[in-house]
Amino acid sequence: MTGKIPPEFIDNLLSRVDVVDIVNQRVPLRRAGSEYKACCPFHDEKTPSFTVSPNKQFYHCFGCGAHGTALGFLMEYDRLSFPEAVEELATSVGLELPTEIAFQQGPDNRPLYELMDQAADYFSQQLRQHPDAARASDYLQQRGLSGDITQTYRIGFAPPGWNNLLQQLGSSSQRLKQLETAGLISTKNDKQYDRFRDRIMFPIHDTRGRVVGFGGRVMGDDTPKYLNSPETPIFHKGRELYGLYEARKALKDISSLLVVEGYMDVVALAQFGIRNVVATLGTATTADHLEKLFRSAPEVIFCFDGDRAGKDAAWKALETTLPLLRDGRQARFLFLPDGEDPDSQVRKQGKDSFLQRMGDALPLSEFLFNKLGEQVDMTTLDGRARLVTLATPYIQKLPRGVFQDLMNQQLSRLSGSRAPGRIASKSRSGSHFRGSRPMLMKPVHRAIALLLQYPELAKQEKLPQEWKKLDTAGVTILKQLLEILQHNPTYTTAVLVERWEDDNIRHHLGKLAATELVTSGDQAEQFHGCLLRLEKEAQQEAGKLARNKLRPSDMTEEEKNLLRQLYSSKKPE
Ligand code: UTP
Ligand code: MN
Repeated sequence: MTGKIPPEFIDNLLSRVDVVDIVNQRVPLRRAGSEYKACCPFHDEKTPSFTVSPNKQFYHCFGCGAHGTALGFLMEYDRLSFPEAVEELATSVGLELPTEIAFQQGPDNRPLYELMDQAADYFSQQLRQHPDAARASDYLQQRGLSGDITQTYRIGFAPPGWNNLLQQLGSSSQRLKQLETAGLISTKNDKQYDRFRDRIMFPIHDTRGRVVGFGGRVMGDDTPKYLNSPETPIFHKGRELYGLYEARKALKDISSLLVVEGYMDVVALAQFGIRNVVATLGTATTADHLEKLFRSAPEVIFCFDGDRAGKDAAWKALETTLPLLRDGRQARFLFLPDGEDPDSQVRKQGKDSFLQRMGDALPLSEFLFNKLGEQVDMTTLDGRARLVTLATPYIQKLPRGVFQDLMNQQLSRLSGSRAPGRIASKSRSGSHFRGSRPMLMKPVHRAIALLLQYPELAKQEKLPQEWKKLDTAGVTILKQLLEILQHNPTYTTAVLVERWEDDNIRHHLGKLAATELVTSGDQAEQFHGCLLRLEKEAQQEAGKLARNKLRPSDMTEEEKNLLRQLYSSKKPE
C-alpha cells in the first residue's frame, strides 16, 4: 500500500503537523536556540544530542545518526509501518484518509474480522463448556500449559462434529458466505461443514490484535497434525507471525525476538516466562516477516533444530535476512541439539539454560563464515582465495553501512587478502554510527543534500541547465526536486523527503537531509558549483557516446560538432 498513498496527501499531512509536537508528546523536548533538544530515545546517552528542527520539520541525532520526519519518528518510536504512521498522523490532525487509500484496501473486511473474533470466543468458551472439554483441558495440561497461559493466548477447543461453528455463527446465507471467505467452513459436493473439528485452537492475531487466522492441532495421532486457516483476504501466512501481538503486549521494550517453528514452542516458552518469541506459520521466514520483526525489535534470533534440515533452513533464513540488515539491526542463530524443539528443550533444561542458549546464539557473521569456511581448505592460499569468491556475493547483498564494512574487514582478515568486495570501505556510509560527518560526496548527492536542507536554493535564477541531460538515478531525483520546489516554494525538508513512494529513495534522501554539510561558504554558490560539475560530467558522457560511434556517418551533426569541440578542447555551446 505504501506506493499508493498519493504524495499530495503526504505533503498536505506533513504541512499540518509539527514534528516538534509529535516528538514532544513522546519525548519531552527542551528549547535550544532555534531548535529543540532531548536525550535520544533511540540510543543510550547522558547528554542530549537529539535535535528537532521546526524549520526543517526534521529530527536528527548527532550521537547515533537517527533522523527523519514526523512520519519517520512515528514509525521508529511507535513501531508503525509507513501506512500505519500515515493513518495515525492523519487521525491525529483530523484529516480524512484519501478515498484512494480506502479504495485500494478493497472490500470492507470488517465483517470478517468480527466473525473471526466471534469464532475465537466460541472456541475458548467450548474449552470450558463442551461435554468433551475435559479431554481438551487434559491435553493442554499434559503439555504443561497453565490456565493463565491458555487464556493469555486465547487458546480454545473446536469440538468434534461437522457443523458446530456453522450453526453457531451461520445464521444467514450472508453469514455463511462470510464464514467461508474467512476460511472457517469448507464446501464439498454442495455441503458446507466446519473446517476445524476436534482440535485445540490457536488464534493468530495481527499486530493490532485482530484475529486473522487459526491453527488447529489434533490431540491424538490424526493427520494433519496441524491445520491452518487458508489464505483469506485478511490472512497471509507469509506476513503474519504467531505470538507477535502477545509479545508486544507483554513487553514494553523488546531487545530481541526469537523466531521458532511451532505454536507449541511459543506457548511453552511463554509458560516458562520467555515472552519474546514468535512462530512462523508452517512457512520459511519471509522478508515481510522480517520487516515486521525488525519494527518491533532490533535483533532477531532464529531458532532451529541442529540437524541437517535445520541447518539448511537456517541458511535460507540468512539469505532472506542479508538485504534487510541495515545498521542497527542484527540477526543471530540458535541451534538446538538434534531432535529437540524449544518446547522439549525448555521442559528438559529449564528457563535459565534456555536463556543462556539464546545469549550464546551465533552471530550471523560467524554462521556465514563458518559455513562457507567448511567448503574450502583454509590452510591453502587457493582455499582462502576461494573463500573470498564464495563470501563476496553474500556480503554484497548487505545494505551499505558499517556492518557491511565490518564484514568485508572480517573477510580480509580470514582470507589474508584484500577482499574485492570492498565497495563499502570507500566510506559512503559511516553516517549511521558516528553521526553524520561531512564527507566526500558526489556532486549530485551534495546538490540534493543542499537542496533538501536549503529548499530556498530552488528560487535562484539562472541555474545551469545542461546537467539535466545526464541519465542517472540521482540526476532524475535532483531534477524532480527542483521542479517540485518551483511549484511549491514553501515545502519543508520533511515534505521533500517523505513524498517519495520508494522506501529506498526515502531512506537515502533522509540520510542526505541529515548529513552535516560543510557550509562555510555561500550555499547558493556551492549549489551552483555542484551543478557545474554535473554539467562537465554531462559533456564528458556525451563525448564518450560520440567517440563510441566509430564511423562519422553514424553521427548526427550535433555529435560531430561536439567531438570537434572536445578535440579542440573548446567548450560546446
Ligand atoms: P511439528 O510437527 O514439527 O511440531 O510442527 P511438533 O513439535 O512435532 O508438534 P507439537 O509440539 O507436538 O505440537 C511445527 C510447526 O509446523 C507447522 C505448525 O505451525 C507447527 O506448529 N505445521 C506442522 C503445520 O502447519 N502443519 C503440519 O501438519 C505440521
Ligand atoms: Mn513440539
